[in-house]
Amino acid sequence: MNIIRVKDYDELSEKACELLVNEMEKSDSSVLGLATGSTPEGLYQKLIDEYKKGNLSFSNVTTFNLDEYVGLAASDPNSYRYYMNEKLFSHVDLPDEQAFLPNGAAEDLEKECRDYEALIKDAGYVDLQVLGLGLNGHIGFNEPGTPVDSRTHVVELDESTRKANARFFKSMDDVPKKALTMGIGTIMESRQIILLVSGEKKADAVKRLVNGMVSEEFPASILQKHENAILIADEAALSKV
Ligand code: GLP
Repeated sequence: MNIIRVKDYDELSEKACELLVNEMEKSDSSVLGLATGSTPEGLYQKLIDEYKKGNLSFSNVTTFNLDEYVGLAASDPNSYRYYMNEKLFSHVDLPDEQAFLPNGAAEDLEKECRDYEALIKDAGYVDLQVLGLGLNGHIGFNEPGTPVDSRTHVVELDESTRKANARFFKSMDDVPKKALTMGIGTIMESRQIILLVSGEKKADAVKRLVNGMVSEEFPASILQKHENAILIADEAALSKV
């Protein structure tokens, strides 16, 4: 895994934007894997800026998001579909029918997972996958212990993950207990992966990622085995490495 060290969050967003723009320029039908959370917000803003300057178009791009909460409809402000609409999709020329997220409100969740996996496969898998890092090493919503060959599946969220994400909800009770996520096997099929990590609160996780062993107990560590994975981290996140 290559490491790109940047000064701060702004530089991290800039660097990530550059890599996505490169990918979109390389192919006329890129498949991008997208993440939610606070970390990619700066990246999305920079992509919107580039689009508004006329420097890029999403018209031939297909996107697959990593995950979605179970039980939240697209209209729920805490759903990841809503987040993506707000932070990126509604500001650029990405056609609705080319922007995929698992549907957390589906009646048959197992079928939804199978269908989502099939859609990714039909699209030829992801060219460039953006990832954030959970404090416990989760990627997407693949919590510690998730098998490395897992495919899109339903997960029971760790209490620590629910607490970390509670800041977006009215109360802890409102934080969903389950989610749908691409599996680690699905993520590892991506041709290129960029893992974005910013801030001191992630420093212990980054240390374990960079210096620790590859282990299912720390899901992001599997990225060490990917041929084309890049960690982009700022000085604060790398402060313990
Ligand atoms: C969430 C998401 C992940 C995200 C991670 C880190 O639980 N499911 O996809 O990468 O947590 O979030 P943040 O960037 O807000 O620290």
